[in-house]
Amino acid sequence: MRLTWLGHACFSLAGSQTVLIDPFVPEGSLPMEPDIVAVTHAHADHLGMTVRLKKKTVAINEVAKYLASKGIPAEPMNIGGSITVDGVRFTMTPALHSSWLEDEGMGFYGGVAAGFVITMDGISVYHAGDTALFSDMQIIRDLYRPDVALLPVGGRFTMGPDEAMVAARYIGAPLVVPMHYDTFPAIQQDVQNFKQAIERTTSMRVRIVAPGESIEVGPESPGM
Ligand code: NI
Ligand code: MN
Repeated sequence: MRLTWLGHACFSLAGSQTVLIDPFVPEGSLPMEPDIVAVTHAHADHLGMTVRLKKKTVAINEVAKYLASKGIPAEPMNIGGSITVDGVRFTMTPALHSSWLEDEGMGFYGGVAAGFVITMDGISVYHAGDTALFSDMQIIRDLYRPDVALLPVGGRFTMGPDEAMVAARYIGAPLVVPMHYDTFPAIQQDVQNFKQAIERTTSMRVRIVAPGESIEVGPESPGM
């Protein structure tokens, strides 16, 4: 599976399908055409260009209803549930965060924030969404054994590096990729420290990816 970070919380996973998660792309343009979009929550820095993409979109009930009203083929689900879309398995996980849907200057209840474990071609990727640290991340490890964990580290609106270090231990994925940092000044972080602290004290590896950069990920193997 080819994993590409498009900046902020946006990743594409390219295998038998191309899955795009949280399509807010700071650079503004997408280098690929996704088959399936997955949205963790309604905040604008995650919903991004979902409506314009007009692709099959996996989201929590409230966001899915909104998308359906815009003509998007939405796949509604909720926390704790799993669905398979075109051979790709989506499990919606909890996230400790808020959610608010804005459209034409109005704000709406957007359901709650979530994360996903996405399994394609035998590889499982956990995208934590925006979240605080929570100890039930250990259940995600026990149930889904993700090969890769995509964790927010920017602080202020999500976990910072200290909390994300504990999150990485709870989740236990052999490969961690930090996200949701440096997009704007309020979430600037030194991710080299985060990487060194984890790699000094655990067998997990942290891959710092540049926006636009791709890495190959396989089952139980650190990214190359
Ligand atoms: Ni958010
Ligand atoms: Mn966010």
